[in-house]
Amino acid sequence: MRTNELKQILTEMTLSEKVGQLVQLTPDFFLAGGEITGPMQEWQMSKEQLFQIGSVLGTHTSEQVMQIQETYLEKSRLKIPLVFMADVIHGYESIYPIPLALASTFSPEIVEEVAQLSAKEATQAGVHVTFSPMGDHVMDARWGRVLESNGEDPTLSAALTRGYVRGYQGGNLSTEKNRLAACVKHFVGYGAAQGGRDYNTVDLSHVNLYQNYLPAFQAAIEEGVELVMTSFNTMDGIPVTGNKEMVQKILRGDLNFEGVVISDWAAVVELIAHRIAKDKKEAASLAFSAGIDMDMMSDSYQTHLAEIVLDTNQQVALDNAVFRILTLKNKLGLFEDPYRGLRELDDNQLAATKKQLAESILTISEKTPVLLKNDNQILPLKVGQKVALIGPKASSQDILGAWSWIGESEKAISLASGLQEKSLELSVLPMEDGQVITDEAINQALILAKENEVVILAIGETSEESGEAASLAQISLSRNQDKLVQAVAQVNPNVAVVLFNGRPLDLSNIVEEVPTILEVWFPGSQGGRSIANLLMGEVNPEGKLPMSFPRSVGQLPLSYLSLSTGRPMHEGNKDQKYISRYMDEGNDALFPFGHGLSYSQFECVDQGISHQAFREDETIEIRLAVKNNSQIAGGTTVQLYIEDLVTKVARPVKELKQWQKVYLEAFEEKEICFTISAEDLFYVHHDLSRSVETGEFNLYIGLSSQDESIKHQVAYTM
Ligand code: GLC
Repeated sequence: MRTNELKQILTEMTLSEKVGQLVQLTPDFFLAGGEITGPMQEWQMSKEQLFQIGSVLGTHTSEQVMQIQETYLEKSRLKIPLVFMADVIHGYESIYPIPLALASTFSPEIVEEVAQLSAKEATQAGVHVTFSPMGDHVMDARWGRVLESNGEDPTLSAALTRGYVRGYQGGNLSTEKNRLAACVKHFVGYGAAQGGRDYNTVDLSHVNLYQNYLPAFQAAIEEGVELVMTSFNTMDGIPVTGNKEMVQKILRGDLNFEGVVISDWAAVVELIAHRIAKDKKEAASLAFSAGIDMDMMSDSYQTHLAEIVLDTNQQVALDNAVFRILTLKNKLGLFEDPYRGLRELDDNQLAATKKQLAESILTISEKTPVLLKNDNQILPLKVGQKVALIGPKASSQDILGAWSWIGESEKAISLASGLQEKSLELSVLPMEDGQVITDEAINQALILAKENEVVILAIGETSEESGEAASLAQISLSRNQDKLVQAVAQVNPNVAVVLFNGRPLDLSNIVEEVPTILEVWFPGSQGGRSIANLLMGEVNPEGKLPMSFPRSVGQLPLSYLSLSTGRPMHEGNKDQKYISRYMDEGNDALFPFGHGLSYSQFECVDQGISHQAFREDETIEIRLAVKNNSQIAGGTTVQLYIEDLVTKVARPVKELKQWQKVYLEAFEEKEICFTISAEDLFYVHHDLSRSVETGEFNLYIGLSSQDESIKHQVAYTM
């Protein structure tokens, strides 16, 4: 529809119809069923009001969408179609590994493929918009939503966020009906919830906000993301959903976002619980003047916005908000085709899509696990080996993760199923997932462990233990899982722990007990098969940690992006008192950002730097050979970090700036090159501008944030 036709519709709308477009409800207001992802509200709504709302979230099936849209359009005076939104986070029905696992690939191309194929399946079920990607910056594994994040590095997170938006949206939403409009969330700062407790207070400096929390949102907006969702938390004491500076000045102004701003679930009415609004009318007024276009799952706008607009003469602001929503619907082609995407594929095409998804999920879930340690080369297993598979995750199909809501866990491939496809002498001792492991079960495990060459211990979290509203004060293994590991390790030295979890865990109780730990996260629908392929060495682990594993929960929040402080601890002073350290724990991570082993033996060999100094309009090249000193082909991610030795605002001692994935055959080596420019050195100053001063920099290249195989000092000059 042409813009002037859209504007014509706007002129024909009544005030009540305009307000209605700003309301989003779950399907159960129309019919039974649908996804509930927040507290339900009880409110009265007339049929007339119901058939004026703008959007529905959380449908499960194409039949639901068809029925709701048909009924709605019959009763809608102006026949403005509903836009359907849902949380397609890492797949719709066919489920990929969780986003934190996908971040372990360090690959925007992989997340783009995930987004594109997820969109194919979701649009077929009538979804038009996904509440993804999540661009939250995270440093605290107590917060269950790290599962949905891209990890602790803003540069990596921004690159992956771009990949998601490209994959979901493609080139043209109105013609490509198997694409989704993307909604980047949660703007902004949600991941800094104090104590890692979901929905808790956030208090960030603006330098930190601009340096670490905004880059992923800026990247999404530059990629053309259609919607932004505001977050539950406060910023400067004001909840973002009612915070004019965050939404108008920063999001609309600094980041130049022109699309639809939607609240999170009931976040408008929750301004009352925040105690910055005395009632729904004040909540609606605050949210609307802050710039919230759509009120998700509250009746604040529905009940009070018309009166507010009339009392405060905000008709233009209302028209602008309505026009943004009509524009979104127009970009999706909904006026021409309100049933966009619904059953576009015939049965054969749908079967082909499901097959394509299964293959993509298998391949990608082979790339997301991270080999944390592998002493004595317990892995890969050998054909014909006597292997015991023990633990609560051995036969569990609870491996899809917290945001896989219509993913069919009953169809997920368990690790036991995956390993039973292999040529092993396999004995399986499953345990009830999510239940406390009893002494009796441990005794059974010991018997089996003594009879087998290798023991695979499959342990970790249930999917309810991470994700939204799943904060933990303790992040060590629960339900006697560490006791199981310690006992089995006493009777068999060849133990490989396979860890299914949605967050970094405190592994200090087991890390010294076992020679091998493979982090598989929540690996998705094909999880058991991909992990079995890795355990057998048919594929080689290549994941790198996007988030540090702490030595203790007491270290949190923890990130490799730590500042020097005025009393930094180093090898030479770690026994002194008056330095920044813990008396009862180290400062560093147990497994650091960027860490991940392989069955291959990779080495980075310096081949020199183009010159030792450069100016603003110049670049520096660093060449290196990446060698595979083993007979096993594999892949790894070579990482480049910078260290700015003197800055106007204290900067982390190391910052990831570039990375390259490298795949090598047995004993193969490849030369690669990193090109550094001044832009790589920029950082946020106190006035919130981005720039860099002349001075000395260290450049590090290696296979993790702690690997300094290659180091160069360079000068940036004027
Ligand atoms: C939830 C989440 C948000 C999700 C929304 C819709 O409360 O915070 O990430 O997209 O509601 O389900």
